[in-house]
Amino acid sequence: MSGNTFGKLFRITTWGESHGRAVGVVVDGCPAGLALSAEDIQKELDRRRPGQSKASTQRKEEDLVEILSGLFEGKTIGTPISMIVWNKDADSGTYDALKNTPRPGHADYTYLEKYGIRDHRGGGRASARETVGRVAAGAIAKKLLVQEGIEIVSFVSELGGIKAKISSSDLSEIRAKAECNPIRCPDQDAANKMLQLLDQVRKDGDSLGGTVEIVAKGVPSGLGEPVFDKLDADIAKALMSLGAVKAVEIGAGLGSARLLGSQMNDPLIFRDGRIDFETNNAGGILGGISTGAPVFCRIAVKPTPSISRRQRTVDLVSSKEVEIGIKGRHDPAIPPRIVPVAEAMVAIVLADHLLRSRSAKL
Ligand SMILES: Cc1cc2nc3c(=O)[nH]c(=O)nc-3n(C[C@H](O)[C@H](O)[C@H](O)COP(=O)(O)O)c2cc1C
Repeated sequence: MSGNTFGKLFRITTWGESHGRAVGVVVDGCPAGLALSAEDIQKELDRRRPGQSKASTQRKEEDLVEILSGLFEGKTIGTPISMIVWNKDADSGTYDALKNTPRPGHADYTYLEKYGIRDHRGGGRASARETVGRVAAGAIAKKLLVQEGIEIVSFVSELGGIKAKISSSDLSEIRAKAECNPIRCPDQDAANKMLQLLDQVRKDGDSLGGTVEIVAKGVPSGLGEPVFDKLDADIAKALMSLGAVKAVEIGAGLGSARLLGSQMNDPLIFRDGRIDFETNNAGGILGGISTGAPVFCRIAVKPTPSISRRQRTVDLVSSKEVEIGIKGRHDPAIPPRIVPVAEAMVAIVLADHLLRSRSAKL
């Protein structure tokens, strides 16, 4: 496999399988002198950790991070930062029945077709467990970004067709509201309805999909490297590389196809003596370069493929069509769990481009 590294200057390589001994990440290119502790990483891993509510898988992992390299006296020293999290609560038994019957909607069939061999336990490398490394790396990226006044917030905006009403543009307020319910939706009324629906769907052995929004404020103008490493192109790749993400929108996104040019274009204005934009349909990016306005992204997340309801597949040994019902511990809906992971991926892209932007002109 050769697709495990992401980023140019701030570069991450994740490793490990769901039911292997451990998962982790190597972050290369983080500048020296950044104050960093295991607590900074742990805080973000705790947000990602499974088993915290009925809206997530019941796999119980402590997810305690160990930083193996790259730090001295509480600061980064410019060398690779290697981080490891041991897998402790893997229950591989429930996967034996799935060894020869690829799960519909999961990566079982394609991994086997491509490599001829796969670690079927817990989905192997295609499991959400892989995102531990992304979140750990994202925590470092976020620390870099905070120093530059960049803040990222993510939340669930829709689940099972129930839409949240977001009344505030204050990111701290949105985050506080989103983090106080298990759906991670800042609209408490909508979150209650989502939870109710999720409970019902889970009892039916099924799952729900939804949308997640990610907003980055304080992004300076000038990030993004045309033509192939445009900021929106790299964000799309970062988010699309997450399992279950089926679409990425920037700004007005898909809706822009239905607007007139006069509606879509964001008028340039002077605000407090500085150039600004009256609206932000561009989602903070023009020509692949950040405008200085908030970077706004939305992802569509499909319903969890592993469901206990009976589904049709094939038995690779008997060459017969069979029905399976998937046991094991799975997220009944992925959007609440993908929130800290999506945030981490956007942070990694912004940190990378922030460092790259410093060599753009003399
Ligand atoms: C945070 C997160 C949690 C997930 N949880 C589950 C899960 O519990 N069960 C499952 O079958 N898939 C889960 N997935 C989705 C699978 O990883 C994904 O559907 C699979 O790798 C196939 O990739 P694709 O859906 O992008 O084609 C999760 C994904 C993410 C990002």
